[in-house]
Amino acid sequence: MSDPQKILIIDDEPSICSGCKIILTENGYDVETALSGQKGLEKIFNDPFDLILLDIRLPDITGIEILKKINEKKMDVSVIIMTGHGTVENAVEAMKNGAFDFITKPFNEKELEKSILKALESRALVQENLSLKKQLYDKFSFDNIIGNNRLMAKIFNKIERVAPLDSTVLLEGESGTGKELFANAIHAHSNRSAKQIIAMDCNTFSASLMESELFGHEKGAFTGADRTMPGIFEIASNSTLFLDEVTNLDLDIQGKLLRVLETGEYKSVGSNQVKKTNARIITATNMDLKKMVAEKKFREDLFYRLNVFPIHIPPLRDRKNDIPKLAYHFLKRFCRKTGKQISGFSDDALKVLVNHDWPGNVRQLKNVVERLIIMSDGNQLNQKFLYDHLEIRSESTPDEIPVPRTLDELKAAKKQFLETHFSKTETSFLKRALLENDGNITRAAKMVGMQRSNFSTQMKKYNITYSKT
Ligand SMILES: Nc1ncnc2c1ncn2[C@@H]1O[C@H](COP(=O)(O)OP(=O)(O)OP(=O)(O)O)[C@@H](O)[C@H]1O
Ligand SMILES: [Mg+2]
Repeated sequence: MSDPQKILIIDDEPSICSGCKIILTENGYDVETALSGQKGLEKIFNDPFDLILLDIRLPDITGIEILKKINEKKMDVSVIIMTGHGTVENAVEAMKNGAFDFITKPFNEKELEKSILKALESRALVQENLSLKKQLYDKFSFDNIIGNNRLMAKIFNKIERVAPLDSTVLLEGESGTGKELFANAIHAHSNRSAKQIIAMDCNTFSASLMESELFGHEKGAFTGADRTMPGIFEIASNSTLFLDEVTNLDLDIQGKLLRVLETGEYKSVGSNQVKKTNARIITATNMDLKKMVAEKKFREDLFYRLNVFPIHIPPLRDRKNDIPKLAYHFLKRFCRKTGKQISGFSDDALKVLVNHDWPGNVRQLKNVVERLIIMSDGNQLNQKFLYDHLEIRSESTPDEIPVPRTLDELKAAKKQFLETHFSKTETSFLKRALLENDGNITRAAKMVGMQRSNFSTQMKKYNITYSKT
C-alpha cells in the first residue's frame, strides 16, 4: 500500500485544528496542525505535504501571503482556503493566487471531505499527466534515437529547430529508416506535447472513407452515416497530426489537404459549414515525391506546400558507423525484455552487421537483433551464430543468389556469382582508367594495355559514360 497522503491544517483556532484532524485521520490521512502562519510555513518548508487546509485570517501572516510564498518556492502542494463569513472577496484573491478551492466556515464533515477529495483527485490527475508527458519526452528524447553519424547530427539539429514551431514538416526516407520515430520526436519536443499526437496511415482507407476520416461527416451524408462524426483534423486540434504515406491520398483529397494547410479551413462530408483546425501537420513518405509530381500522381502545389521543411532520413547503409550502436541499443532493450544476459557481439559478428546492406533499414536490424536474442543461449553473439540463424550474408556473398539444392543449381549459382562480381570489378576497372585519363578513351585503353575498340565495346556493354564526379 502507498503511504497515506499528508495534510497540514493551519488555523489559529485550536478547535478547528483538532476537529479537522480527528475527521481526516479517521479517513486515513496523515495530519499535522499549526496554530500560526509562521509555524505553518516552517512545517511546509521542512516537510512535503500533499494538501494544506489554510485559514485565510491568521494573526501573524495572512493566508494570501502564505500562498504567495508557496508559489515563490514553486512548491507542489494543493491548498484549500478556509474563510469566515464576509471574507469571500479574499477567497477570490486566494484562488487567483493558486488556491484550489475554498470552504466557508462553519463547514460540516461532508463538505470538508468532498473538498479534500476533489483537490487530491485533481492533483493526482495533474501528476499523472505530467508523468505521461515525461514518459513521452523520455521515449522520444534524443538519447533514445541513435545517431552519431554526421548526417544524423544534422537531422537532430533540424528537428530541434523546427519542433517548437508550428511549421509543416515532410519526412522522407526508405521504409524502416525512422520516419515515424522522428515524427514522434518532433511532437515530443514541441509545445503541443501535453496532447497526444494523432497518427493516420493514408494507406488504410479507400478514398471516400479517407475523406470522412480526415474531415468528419454529417449524419446522413452517406449510407451508413447514422450520426455526425468528427474527423481527424478536429480531433488533432491543438495537437500534431502525423499523415503517414501521404502519397496515397487521391488527388481530390490532396486538394482539400492543401486548403487546410493554407487556411486551416475544411468542410466535413455532407456539410457546407466551414470548420477550422490548428493541427500541426507532419507528413511522411518513402516515395520520390518529385517524380510523382512529374508523373502527375501528386499535386505540384501540395508538394511545394509540404516541402517547406523537408527532412531526408538517409538509409542505414549510408550511415554504417551507426550500426554497432544501434545493434547494442536493441540488444540491451531485448535483453531487458526477455531477461537474458548477453554481453554483446563478437568483433566478427559486428563486422557482418556493419557490412550488410540492410534494405529494410533500422527496422530490419531491430528485428534481426530480436531474433538473435530469442535464439541465443550463450553470453556472446558470434559470427557463426549469426550465419546459422539469419538470412544475412557478408558482402562477399550476393544476396540475390539463394542457397542451391542440387549440383546444377550450384554451378548456375557459381556462374551468376562470377558474372555479377566480375562485372562490378570490370566496371570499376574501366571507370578508373577513364578517370585517370580525363575521359580520353585512347589514352585509357593504352594505359591498361587494351585495344581502343575493345575498351569502348566494354564501356558500351556496361553502359559507362565518362563523368567527372
Ligand atoms: N535512429 C534510431 N534509433 C533507435 N531506433 C530507431 C532509429 N530509427 C528507427 N528506429 C526504430 O526502427 C523501427 C522502424 O522505424 P519507423 O517505424 O520510425 O520507420 P519508418 O521510416 O516510419 O518506416 P515505414 O516507412 O516502413 O513506415 C522502429 O521500431 C523505430 O523505433
Ligand atoms: Mg512509418
